[in-house]
Amino acid sequence: MIYLELFYIVSTVLLLLGLRMLSSPSTARKGNIIAAVGMGLAVLISILDPIKNDHGNLLWILGAICLGSLIGLLYAKKVKMTDIPGLVSLFNGFGGACAVFIAIHEVYKFDATQSLGFMGTTYLALFVGGVAFTGSLIAYGKLAGKVRDWRNGISSYFNLFWLVGCISLILFQIYNPSLYPFLPLVILAASLIYGLSFVWPIGGADMPVVIALLNALTGIAAALAGIVYDNMVMLLGGILVGSSGIILTMIMCRAMNRSLLNVIIGGFGSAVHSIAGERRNIEKTSISDVSINMRYANNVMIIPGYGMAVAQAQKACKELDNTLSNKGIHVNYAVHPVAGRMPGHMNVLLAEADVPYSKIKDMEEANAMFSDTDICLIVGANDVVNPSALDDPGSPIFGMPILEVLKSKNIVVLKRSMSTGYSGIENPLFSNKKTKMLFGDAKESIESINKEIKTMD
Ligand code: TAP
Repeated sequence: MIYLELFYIVSTVLLLLGLRMLSSPSTARKGNIIAAVGMGLAVLISILDPIKNDHGNLLWILGAICLGSLIGLLYAKKVKMTDIPGLVSLFNGFGGACAVFIAIHEVYKFDATQSLGFMGTTYLALFVGGVAFTGSLIAYGKLAGKVRDWRNGISSYFNLFWLVGCISLILFQIYNPSLYPFLPLVILAASLIYGLSFVWPIGGADMPVVIALLNALTGIAAALAGIVYDNMVMLLGGILVGSSGIILTMIMCRAMNRSLLNVIIGGFGSAVHSIAGERRNIEKTSISDVSINMRYANNVMIIPGYGMAVAQAQKACKELDNTLSNKGIHVNYAVHPVAGRMPGHMNVLLAEADVPYSKIKDMEEANAMFSDTDICLIVGANDVVNPSALDDPGSPIFGMPILEVLKSKNIVVLKRSMSTGYSGIENPLFSNKKTKMLFGDAKESIESINKEIKTMD
């Protein structure tokens, strides 16, 4: 059907255009809508395709779409902002599960005419989809704080052994397709177990890499399923998600200074994170002291972290920025690539608060600016400013590039307590002589500082 192919091309172009527009914050919102329209069109065409739907399944498909949409809508409406990273992980896992269903359905239709390549592709879709599914469930649990890292001395070796086992089983099965009818289910179970054992031990500061990698795996699984179904949009969508996931994984590896191999075999050789470390003297400060110091500063750098998302303090930051800027003080924002709980988390929040993009500095740029910064205002960031990454070889995050706030003249940390960040390790920055701690909810603290500065000349 020529006209169906034409619609597929239109939806592919919309998808590509949307993705292209996502690469800049100013066009991202529109890009998202265009990509969604492209995806919607692709779904519609697949349903309408009379050749593929001559089995009387249309009602089942429409019923499933309505049910899935309803669940998605209700869940998305009630989910808290801080739970969005976990939800994204969950959705990612469902993508993997779809590839598993497609693949398992197909492998039981194989007959003697199937080529080795086709069988290999289908089993690969089954394996990668299964890993992405259970891996994403664990990632969801970790992001939601419901699953703790679990690692022991043999987990890396077990993962390696299991991976080799899975590949061997797949090879055996495609060369002996009708020998053991239950083997596809064994491969499925082994893949699901590998997803669990691969992601469970990795945690703390390495999580961003895993999340990006799981994204890439889901894309690859969808692309493989697209080959199996001979569906161009599915193939292309999968390739786009898979390749952008791989690029993101590389970016995250660089941001964390971890090698990909290290992550793939389950954090092989990486340190187990500790919560050790004595609490040294810390200096507390007050709203009025911080307000006075900020009022008479020339350059202020706001450093958002996960706590800003929890406190929903982004708009308060922007209002404080307005007040300071009106008084001739330069305000910028330093964003670490893994700040928050999902790639681009801080950028999204700052964009929501209408912070101009020109004020948002990435890590390299910000690090070059700190020596001219009078005050760093750390808004619920912890791991991304932890100097142990630079000077403590025994630290689990040693080697991870951080925002080097100690180069600035003064540091004010807004947080509620002395508790650790996501990686669970102490932060010596808090006891540094340049640092003052302002305890309390970040939004409330910033609003009070802003109120006080407004009353000053
Ligand atoms: P974290 O190190 O997680 O620290 C967040 C801090 O915010 C905590 O110390 C917490 O201290 C504080 N906080 C929480 N609620 C607050 C509130 N209402 N007001 C003020 N402070 C509040 O955050 P980060 O520096 O952004 O680092 C991110 C971490 O998450 C990294 O380890 C990263 O590897 C990991 N991670 C990132 C991602 C992605 S893709 N970005 C994904 C998974 C994991 P109190 O409880 O004392 O207030």
